[in-house]
Amino acid sequence: MNLVWTTPADAPAMAEVHAQAFPGAWDAEAFCDLMEAAGVFGLLAGTAPAQGVILCRVAAGEMEVLTVGVAPAARQQGVGKALMTAALGAARQAGAEAAFLEVAVDNAAAVALYARLGFRRAGLRRGYYDRGEEGRADALVMRLDLSDA
Ligand SMILES: CC(C)(COP(=O)(O)OP(=O)(O)OC[C@H]1O[C@@H](n2cnc3c(N)ncnc32)[C@H](O)[C@@H]1OP(=O)(O)O)[C@@H](O)C(=O)NCCC(=O)NCCS
Repeated sequence: MNLVWTTPADAPAMAEVHAQAFPGAWDAEAFCDLMEAAGVFGLLAGTAPAQGVILCRVAAGEMEVLTVGVAPAARQQGVGKALMTAALGAARQAGAEAAFLEVAVDNAAAVALYARLGFRRAGLRRGYYDRGEEGRADALVMRLDLSDA
């Protein structure tokens, strides 16, 4: 899997693959702003067009996965796992002792991916996601200890 660390210049490519992975995707400007923020780093999987994207932030000894998405045609081929594994490695190197993320309780693929990597349920945020006419969905907070891995 070809993984490339991103810079703000990669924001359009990040937004392009994100739009394939999510209904309410973030645009290039949002990715550019985030990439310029302190402690934020990203990766693209594959090139022209990219197949997957991840964006994370390390702050105060914790890594947060801001978003991770894989284009539908490239799913279940290890792309998401490769992105997460590389990002977790970078977080460890940056001194993070734990990683955490939020995921919709009904997002079976993502919950399975995170559980496979060792993340465990750490909490529940009721009504965290706004799904418009479908109402609100709860988020699981999942956490991975990086200090003993
Ligand atoms: C979640 C997502 C990133 C997974 O990416 P992926 O490249 O398909 O995942 P991988 O092929 O690397 O799979 C890794 C593990 O996840 C689990 N998994 C992935 N897709 C799954 C599915 N549809 N059903 C069950 N388990 C799944 C498996 O345990 C798999 O490990 P294994 O094959 O070694 O058993 C992808 O489905 C996606 O982009 N979904 C839409 C966006 C999204 O929901 N992002 C997460 C928001 S929190």
